[in-house]
Amino acid sequence: MATLRLGDTAPNFTQDSSEGEIDFYRWAGDSWVVLFSHPADFTPVCTTELGKTAALSGEFAKRGVKPIAVSIDPVDKHKQWIGDINETQNTTVDFPILADPDRKVADLYDLIHPNASTTATVRSVFVIDPKKVIRTTITYPASTGRNFDEILRVIDSLQLTDSHKVATPVNWKDGDDVVILPSLQDPAELAERFPKGFKAIRPYLRITPQPNR
Ligand code: BEZ
Repeated sequence: MATLRLGDTAPNFTQDSSEGEIDFYRWAGDSWVVLFSHPADFTPVCTTELGKTAALSGEFAKRGVKPIAVSIDPVDKHKQWIGDINETQNTTVDFPILADPDRKVADLYDLIHPNASTTATVRSVFVIDPKKVIRTTITYPASTGRNFDEILRVIDSLQLTDSHKVATPVNWKDGDDVVILPSLQDPAELAERFPKGFKAIRPYLRITPQPNR
């Protein structure tokens, strides 16, 4: 088990899930993936998180992203819990929850932080791109539910900045102005890439409308 860092290849695995056995790479295909762990089934915060993920199904699909959850609980427990999530969160869980009682995925993704808990998986998120590269990692304490709007926001930023020579500033959200990469200095390329122009507040701080809008 090694700590996974940005730019590392997401490890493949085969593991059982609420939707049957999953070969991770085959299941992911050419999609982006949000792999997220939770401490345990039948817990209140996790119930709201998985409900919210299901409610955001259309938002994930729009971005070409497949969500997949994991905890060390077994499949039969996941299936019972999904009934509760659907009922209490008024939604339909339409993504798999990996069952990881042998901790195969937990070990590969370093999801047991022994000084926090020796048994429960932490609340981590991995954003993985279609080339299986880890692009974002976030870990929250068990007592704090994640903000899935923030996870979508990060994906929007990654997908935008992968295809344009820009970065996204503080609190950016899709549609807001962006900043031009400082490495881009050629006037002809600047004019071609940013026909709407840009405002140079400093030579390194140049603001432009979001280029794909
Ligand atoms: C929860 O998901 O609700 C939770 C899990 C562990 C500790 C506290 C809350």
